[in-house]
Amino acid sequence: MESNKPFCCWVLLAFLILSCFVAQTHGSMMREQRLLHPNKFMLKPYFGVDDTSLFEVIDVVDETNINVLIPQESSKEKDRIERLPGQPPVNFSQYGGYVTVNKSAGRALYYYFVEAHEHSKDTMPLLLWLNGGPTCSSLGYGAMQELGPFRVHSDGKTLFTNKFSWNSAANVLFLESPAGVGYSYSNTTSDYSKMGDRITATDNYVFLVNWLERYPEYKNRAFYISGESYAGHYVPQLAQIILHNNKKAGKTIINLKGIIIGNAVTNYETDEQGMYDYLATHAVVSDRVVSQIQKYCDFSPAANMSDECSVAIGAADGFIIDIDLYNIYAPLCSSPNITFRPKKASIFKFDPCSDNYVYAYMNRPDVQEALHANVTKLTHDWQACSNVITRWLDRPPTIIPLLREFMANALRVWIFSGDVDGAVPVTSTKYSINSMNLTVKTAWHPWFLNKEVGGYIELYEGDLTLVTVRDAGHQVPSYQPARALSLIKHFLDGTPLPGSKRI
Ligand SMILES: *[C@@H]1O[C@H](CO)[C@@H](O)[C@H](O)[C@H]1NC(C)=O
Ligand SMILES: *[C@@H]1O[C@H](CO)[C@@H](O)[C@H](O)[C@H]1NC(C)=O
Ligand SMILES: *[C@@H]1O[C@H](CO)[C@@H](O)[C@H](O)[C@H]1NC(C)=O
Ligand SMILES: *[C@@H]1O[C@H](CO)[C@@H](O)[C@H](O)[C@H]1NC(C)=O
Ligand SMILES: *[C@@H]1O[C@H](CO)[C@@H](O)[C@H](O)[C@H]1NC(C)=O
Ligand SMILES: *[C@@H]1O[C@H](CO)[C@@H](O)[C@H](O)[C@H]1NC(C)=O
Ligand SMILES: *[C@@H]1O[C@H](CO)[C@@H](O)[C@H](O)[C@H]1NC(C)=O
Repeated sequence: MESNKPFCCWVLLAFLILSCFVAQTHGSMMREQRLLHPNKFMLKPYFGVDDTSLFEVIDVVDETNINVLIPQESSKEKDRIERLPGQPPVNFSQYGGYVTVNKSAGRALYYYFVEAHEHSKDTMPLLLWLNGGPTCSSLGYGAMQELGPFRVHSDGKTLFTNKFSWNSAANVLFLESPAGVGYSYSNTTSDYSKMGDRITATDNYVFLVNWLERYPEYKNRAFYISGESYAGHYVPQLAQIILHNNKKAGKTIINLKGIIIGNAVTNYETDEQGMYDYLATHAVVSDRVVSQIQKYCDFSPAANMSDECSVAIGAADGFIIDIDLYNIYAPLCSSPNITFRPKKASIFKFDPCSDNYVYAYMNRPDVQEALHANVTKLTHDWQACSNVITRWLDRPPTIIPLLREFMANALRVWIFSGDVDGAVPVTSTKYSINSMNLTVKTAWHPWFLNKEVGGYIELYEGDLTLVTVRDAGHQVPSYQPARALSLIKHFLDGTPLPGSKRI
């Protein structure tokens, strides 16, 4: 993670020394294990210019929705993917290609679209999935390791079926954003040092409007946005632009019905407190160190980090470094090399070396050709988390006001949490929701799948739902594919997860 170094320049000196030390240590681990972390910037979330103002809406359309429509080179039929290399036979259509989001700069975002099965695609909703990071790929994580129809074998060239793919519940759109992530690019390479929350939200919006021109049959379809981790920022920020632009235009440009975010970064202060409390109560970080953190660290947005706090956080990092923070009970990847023959794979047993298989697959020229990706022959390789984006300009400390706005506008809001994630743990999510002082509608209770507790659920007035997924790490569908599918089906249907074994 050498490329992380520049970020250190904007933080306090003591913090700098400690976090660079951590980055270095992680770096040596990651060189062996290759991109263990889908959220490489997460341990130290404040970097770049600290923007403590709330996210403001950027008007990217006028009343007639003219500004945002950009002439595009491709079409739905050109973007159809005949077959991915090494793919098992399927009964649904796949598409992939670029949508230009800024003509003058030459920015284009890559998408991969998996329709539902032939007989249900016309009635099922449209679901966008976003991964976080920031700068991690929704194709490399969401599609190929979590909720997409395929997973990559250890040979890095053949695929196997995910029978819990979310395209049995929706038409699923994966977007690599912002430019510089995955196959998405900018011809103005100086853009890569100007990425942040605002440009991500704006470009994602421009993407959607233009994507719907290419797929007009989805224009009035019920639309939902989902995502994980740092997409706890992306999802609400995009939803807010959609809401505001629909209002401004006086018509439904995008038929947004709800959002769902998992192990999501939502509120810096409670996210941080919750992380250390979780790690102490799960016997990872010592009680002594966490009590120091509680004593010396003020995570409120305006506060500066004290030297005592930096020292305590450095000590906590020492306890975390040798486990997979994103699933505190998961094995590490011990033999990262691609194998000549595929190892026996199971959808029920997530392979901790999957990042390596996906990296190999995505960098194959035949795969890129089939996906209609990398058509401009980029000079860098495909990475699960970008190493061309070198700065992150803006990041508000909370998105909770956006959640309130959605509740006031009758959007469905679900927040889920895999309960063995240590990076954005369930404790953080509970603290963040508690900070909203909502009225409980249906108190905490288990939900069931196949006669087992799938997790716990609490419903609040205003259509906000908290759902935990039992024994799932940060990437919930990777670790609990059946529970995750049940979760998304109930979210999309707007029905409560079964609170009884008998259903
Ligand atoms: C595709 O659909 C046909 C007919 O419904 C079915 O027999 C076949 O098993 C399906 N194939 C896959 C891979 O799902
Ligand atoms: C295109 O991106 C550039 C930054 O690269 C920005 O200055 C410009 O305003 C953008 N144009 C539009 C129409 O959004
Ligand atoms: C970027 O530049 C290449 C090469 O000139 C061109 O083919 C491509 O269309 C450009 N991309 C965008 C989004 O304008
Ligand atoms: C944090 O540090 C900055 C720069 O040294 C200073 O201007 C600001 O007042 C400090 N804030 C607090 C809450 O101490
Ligand atoms: C893994 O691959 C690397 C680079 O190709 C090679 O040097 C190393 O020997 C391989 N390790 C094993 C255990 O095969
Ligand atoms: C794009 O293609 C070039 C040339 O084949 C390759 O070197 C590069 O790694 C690829 N980049 C991405 C992002 O796929
Ligand atoms: C929630 O309630 C607490 C205690 O009553 C209060 O201090 C806090 O300001 C409230 N927060 C919000 C966002 O309403």
